[in-house]
Amino acid sequence: MIIDGKKAATELLATLANEVTALKESTDITPSLTVVLVGEDAASQVYVRNKIKQTVAVGMISNEIRLPDTTSQAELLAQLLTLNSDDSVHGILVQLPLPKHIDESVVIAAINPEKDVDGFHAMNSGRLLNGEAGALVPCTPQGCIILAKQYLGDDLSGQHAVVIGRSNIVGKPVALLLLQENCTVTIAHSRTKNLAQICQQADILVAAVGRAEFVKASWVKKGATVIDVGINRIEADGSDGKVNGKAKLVGDVDFNAVSEVCGAITPVPGGVGPMTIACLLKNTLKAAIRQAPSA
Ligand code: GUN
Repeated sequence: MIIDGKKAATELLATLANEVTALKESTDITPSLTVVLVGEDAASQVYVRNKIKQTVAVGMISNEIRLPDTTSQAELLAQLLTLNSDDSVHGILVQLPLPKHIDESVVIAAINPEKDVDGFHAMNSGRLLNGEAGALVPCTPQGCIILAKQYLGDDLSGQHAVVIGRSNIVGKPVALLLLQENCTVTIAHSRTKNLAQICQQADILVAAVGRAEFVKASWVKKGATVIDVGINRIEADGSDGKVNGKAKLVGDVDFNAVSEVCGAITPVPGGVGPMTIACLLKNTLKAAIRQAPSA
């Protein structure tokens, strides 16, 4: 089975749009998301444009703050202070990566945790670690769980999940979510010995390494659920009929070969990617509800 992330995201967005309508009717609150983009990174501009489009599509208020790449860290922090104390702003997202002269960890720490819809603030990672319901959980990991459940159903308990990657954005939080789902979780990474043998034990294999087609068919147990978080731009070689020299997107998993052995797999594009924005808006709605005066 190919797990259709686009379809799952469309369904989640439709549910969110209904919930936004209901919230507006019952409380007069319209959830709002402010995206801060510093500099001219081409990929970031595409991501931000998509986020804004989807935010508006579900009936939320979208604001964008664009700052030049010469913006100092102090100026960015001052901007965040203003947003933190503005009651009309429910969610704040600072698009990463930031220009090199700005320390991302300082910027993330300056966001009001209640508005941290990326779920990157230490307060939210701590809440996730403790299993607290109030946590704003990083978006891509939430998407991974929803997609795994598309194939496995709601009960993931007892499954052996192997996560390749230990980033704060994907690897660590997805491992914690899988643990919360009562999986047995192994976190593998670039220094892991016998990676292939460890992956072979996975009922659920999450690949978040950032290396094109890194996970091979021989690493995958028959019938496993494979969640591919990678987005890698490579030159098309023409072997699949695509024109030579054109860039194409591939995941961290050797899709064609692995899909012969696994039970289910997320494609790239059209898998985890579309779920990330849908989960961002889910977090924005959650943040808006929690900030409501009566909440
Ligand atoms: N850049 C790439 N992915 C993300 C993300 O999920 N959040 C933010 N803030 N920046 C990103």
